[in-house]
Amino acid sequence: PTLAKFIHGLPKSEYHVHLEGTLEAEMKFALAKRNGMNLPFADVAAMKASYQYHDLPSFLAIYYDGMKVLQKEPDFYDLAYAYLAKAASQNVIYAEMFFDPQEHLKRGVTMADVIGGITRARRDAESKLGIRSQLILCFVRDLSAESAMATLDAALPFKADLVGVGLDSDEAGNPPEKFREHFAKARANGLKVTAHCDVDQTDTLKNIRTVLTDLKVDRIDHGGNIVQSTELVAIAKERGIYFTVCPTFSGTLRRTEKMPVDVVRAMLDAGLKVTISSDDPAYMGSEYIDGVLIRAVDRSRLSKAELIAMTRYGFEAAWLPEADKAAM
Ligand code: HPA
Ligand code: ZN
Repeated sequence: PTLAKFIHGLPKSEYHVHLEGTLEAEMKFALAKRNGMNLPFADVAAMKASYQYHDLPSFLAIYYDGMKVLQKEPDFYDLAYAYLAKAASQNVIYAEMFFDPQEHLKRGVTMADVIGGITRARRDAESKLGIRSQLILCFVRDLSAESAMATLDAALPFKADLVGVGLDSDEAGNPPEKFREHFAKARANGLKVTAHCDVDQTDTLKNIRTVLTDLKVDRIDHGGNIVQSTELVAIAKERGIYFTVCPTFSGTLRRTEKMPVDVVRAMLDAGLKVTISSDDPAYMGSEYIDGVLIRAVDRSRLSKAELIAMTRYGFEAAWLPEADKAAM
């Protein structure tokens, strides 16, 4: 078959997708209407044309502004169901999805409505579409440590609907050790832990070291700069760490390199366990996993064997009981 057909046919998983980053412009208009809000864009095309960013902070400004239309439980249901339906249509059979509750609590939305709407969509998508999923609460790292702890406390009554916690948003000045106690508490409550280490941030290698050796994460989101340290690569391998890489957003190292380095290629060559995800597809050309993988084959010169190996890592990485993993 053609490459596109081959990729489409692979049973896939996704571990690095922010639900709020799947909020398509069309749905933004629909939710704004339902919630009696006005958006400062004439139409979908004008809104999409405003998605212009050049680094993590400029991306985040657009992303946080966009999610303000999410106000009520059915909004979170619609958001999560639409992503799961899209993913299922591309043969994703399992997904672990991030969400950023702090941003919603700020607007007066309750944790019960955020987690409740998403959980209801997860159940419906599993029974109607056959896609299984779990939910990872992300701390917004540029908000205060107190805000993150209050959010964790508000979420713990719903911990049966969560599989883990993560760390996202603006890394500059917000190193992972700011969240040491939060991660320990999450772990004590039976949750898994992961953290973003976006490429080419301030102190990226120091932060990768901290999440590996101090926060003791189970996974790393992005993490491409690790190829610049043989010592950290060895630690990650020793610990069996999986990396959730999003080539659309974090696919190239530039800052400290003479020549741009392709992240997926370099990580595979270093022998690391790489899985590929779509990150924030609504803001990245509405390209979901099939499109991301097709592009990755070309830009990272992936062989079929490598694609298949990454598909397999994609299921090994699941935060599921071993028996459930074997069944996939
Ligand atoms: N990195 C950091 N924060 C984010 C991202 C990301 O890839 N997506 C949404 N918030
Ligand atoms: Zn991300």
